[in-house]
Amino acid sequence: MFKIVRKERLNSAVVLLEIDAPYIAKKAEAGQFVIVRASEQGERLPFTIADYDREKGSITIIIQVVGGSTMEIDRVTDEGYLLDVVGPLGIATEYGDAKRVAVVGGGVGCAIAYPQAKKLFGMGAEVDVIAGFRSKDIVILEDEMKAASTELHICTDDGSYGTKGFVTNKLEELINAGKNFDLVIAIGPVIMMKFVCDITKKYGIKTIVSLNPLMIDGTGMCGCCRVTVDGKVRYACVEGPDFDGHLVDFDELMRRNSTYKEHEKAHVCRLTGGVRNG
Ligand code: NAD
Ligand code: FES
Repeated sequence: MFKIVRKERLNSAVVLLEIDAPYIAKKAEAGQFVIVRASEQGERLPFTIADYDREKGSITIIIQVVGGSTMEIDRVTDEGYLLDVVGPLGIATEYGDAKRVAVVGGGVGCAIAYPQAKKLFGMGAEVDVIAGFRSKDIVILEDEMKAASTELHICTDDGSYGTKGFVTNKLEELINAGKNFDLVIAIGPVIMMKFVCDITKKYGIKTIVSLNPLMIDGTGMCGCCRVTVDGKVRYACVEGPDFDGHLVDFDELMRRNSTYKEHEKAHVCRLTGGVRNG
């Protein structure tokens, strides 16, 4: 059992969990993930590590409560524990010698964009964080991203906060205004990462994306997380989750990620509060 040392609701659908996991905290690096299980029968769910504290021995994950399994995690962690947390998994992000970086986060993807910005900013890079949300009421981690960047640009689709429009509009605006990025890191909806890469390809800027395919074991055995990169099959759990965005087949990833959409819809029993998928 893993103890929850802090649980915080960042908006109506997003929950932060700080978990007592000293062995994972000791080794975790930005870009890596853990696989979590709420109960014996629970689904194995991958979550990128949003933060870690080596001294305290804790890691932080941020969860969007969207379906039966994430509702189960939300419910059991109210009681203070998670059954299993396995990690750190995957390869830590490699930044090369980047000096001027745009870190682009879309919605809940900002939970993962934030540790990337924090790491790069801490390494002395100039970091522009571009964070996009549908509207003001679901903005998360604003203070944290501000503290981890040279400049924070918040965008909302409806214009209720920051600049109106998608993160892609802001990225292109900054490039056209003379920002000379040598690296872009994009994390968020697959469609956002695809369009970020369309822009950066045009300007010849190296781009790293963090892919979120379906996963089961997280150790390279099941083949569930396969993605096509540069025409070759790659396993995101052991060879990623970061890849060169200019080489990723995003259309295939979107098709594969929608395979279980119907099944993932959750039914919540109004009598017991229990959750059933499908
Ligand atoms: P969302 O749909 O609200 O989109 C967030 C932002 O992304 C928008 O505000 C916009 O700026 C940008 N965006 C969306 N569609 C775009 C488009 N067509 N063109 C350009 N920009 C676009 O996001 P959400 O509901 O918070 O969902 C977050 C998504 O991020 C989920 O799909 C989740 O699976 C994914 N995610 C990925 C990772 C990862 O490791 N890659 C981690 C966490 C979350
Ligand atoms: Fe099974 Fe990657 S999740 S091979």
